[in-house]
Amino acid sequence: MTDKARSVHDAEPIPAAARVEIEALLASGDLFRYTAPENAPVSLLEREFAALMGVRFALAVGSCSAALFLALRALDIPPGGRVLIPAFTFAAVPSAVIHAGACPVLVEVGEDYRIDLDDFAAKLTPDTAAVLISHMRGHTSDMDAIMALADARGVPVIEDAAHSLGTLWHGRKIGTIGRVGCFSFQSYKLVNGGEGGMLITEDCGCRTSRRR
Ligand SMILES: Cc1ncc(COP(=O)(O)O)c(C=O)c1O
Repeated sequence: MTDKARSVHDAEPIPAAARVEIEALLASGDLFRYTAPENAPVSLLEREFAALMGVRFALAVGSCSAALFLALRALDIPPGGRVLIPAFTFAAVPSAVIHAGACPVLVEVGEDYRIDLDDFAAKLTPDTAAVLISHMRGHTSDMDAIMALADARGVPVIEDAAHSLGTLWHGRKIGTIGRVGCFSFQSYKLVNGGEGGMLITEDCGCRTSRRR
């Protein structure tokens, strides 16, 4: 990369080593993960991503939007449940909330792209079903304050880390602080898979009673 800022529409070239793997996969014709006896490429990716992030579970999906939608469904957000999201985010975020049958509630952000904590505290009410934080362009919101407020109400936090793979909050990897972390591999994100996404969690889903 030159010292001139890269255009957001200049995707990184796919490295030669990755092209070799892609060619081998295409030559095998076996693009369906479930027919591989073991070590399907996507399973290897999930394993490697989980190890990289230091979490138990990683699920590769078609996009970060799909990961956000699945996170909301997995958390049993009830129909019409209010989900706090940043007012400055990407359209896919409120769309995922609506797709999951819930209701997005916009929280103000500052000029630094971070969640306005006064507005967050005011909008986190007893009928808040979940919180979904987009760390926009790698600018991390105050996750200590957000987690403390959400935990005090038993409200699950989803991190939209589409822009933030590899960033840290006080030494903790973004995407591992909330209950679920969601990542994007769309061409202009930090890993270019054309399209693609990943959902990570430590939560095996075996709680007997979930907050609704
Ligand atoms: C902040 C943010 N969240 C989520 C998404 C959705 O990612 P995807 O395109 O992988 O569905 C995007 C996409 O640009 C984004 O910018």
